Amino acid sequence: MNEPELTITWHLPDGQTLVTGGWSRLNLLAHADTYDLELPQKCGGHAECGTCRVRILSGELSPARHEERDLMMRHARRFEQGERLACKARPLGDVAVRVLAMIPPDLRDIEETEGASEPG
Ligand code: FES
Repeated sequence: MNEPELTITWHLPDGQTLVTGGWSRLNLLAHADTYDLELPQKCGGHAECGTCRVRILSGELSPARHEERDLMMRHARRFEQGERLACKARPLGDVAVRVLAMIPPDLRDIEETEGASEPG
């Protein structure tokens, strides 16, 4: 992939912050995939499920297109100000976004640190 054109700062639900490169031609969900950030995406990026929502904190995202606006209008009380679908929103410059939910990690993929206490 080409050199990143911009920076994306991801504020994760567990309080961690991750800074990655980004490209204006990729939506945020594709960026999350690129950097192994497991965002929910139950409809596979078709603007139908709303599970991939993020909240823009700073910077500019591509304008919402018809299918995204349609979902947000139909479920208006479930969307808060500044929320967008990661599967449809592309960063237009440096942006900071808050990830609202992540898929819990598969514990088979996690190597525990030595000395971790055993459950009771
Ligand atoms: S993945 Fe379903 S709306 Fe984005």
